[in-house]
Amino acid sequence: QAALPAGYQLRALRQSDYETGFLDCLRVLTTVGDITKEQFEEQYSYMARQEGGYFILVVEDTNTSPPRVVGTGALVVERKFIHTLGSVGHIEDIAVAKDQQGKKLGLRIIQALDFIASKTGCYKTILDCSEANEGFYVKCGFRRAGLEMAHYH
Ligand code: ACO
Repeated sequence: QAALPAGYQLRALRQSDYETGFLDCLRVLTTVGDITKEQFEEQYSYMARQEGGYFILVVEDTNTSPPRVVGTGALVVERKFIHTLGSVGHIEDIAVAKDQQGKKLGLRIIQALDFIASKTGCYKTILDCSEANEGFYVKCGFRRAGLEMAHYH
């Protein structure tokens, strides 16, 4: 597995990450909106109560003062009745800060999430992405499978 650059750490999201640039990192991906500290903490607590359901990782650059979250990714473990009560891992919300892209941070996040998925018994890990990101996921060991459909509300 690729190593992180010196001073970079891959760790689980913490409740205190409201202050460390986690939401700004996600803004690279899509609209985040205005979220208060209280709303952030409530959502964090909800996810923490779904034992083994949500795994949100961040990459923190500790070379800066204060340290800053520069990458993130999530794994949602979905439990099923099929495949003898099987589980499927869903990789979601992968984002690496613009000025930090190309340092293999995304690759490390995907490898770590896929490792968690296999350790928690998921028989597969799946994700949706744009055509523009297909090459990145191919480099991470994924291959095109199926077709996404959506109904926005
Ligand atoms: N197309 C083709 N290859 C790519 C792409 C791409 N879009 N992006 C990276 N790669 C390659 C890299 O060149 C590298 O190849 P190498 O091993 O031959 O050098 C390899 O993939 C690993 O790249 P990383 O350095 O780990 O990628 P990075 O840390 O820059 O993260 C990411 C990639 C997450 C797509 C980043 O560019 C990003 O945050 N983009 C904006 C947000 C986004 O689109 N997120 C993904 C949404 S899909 C989802 O969340 C499930």
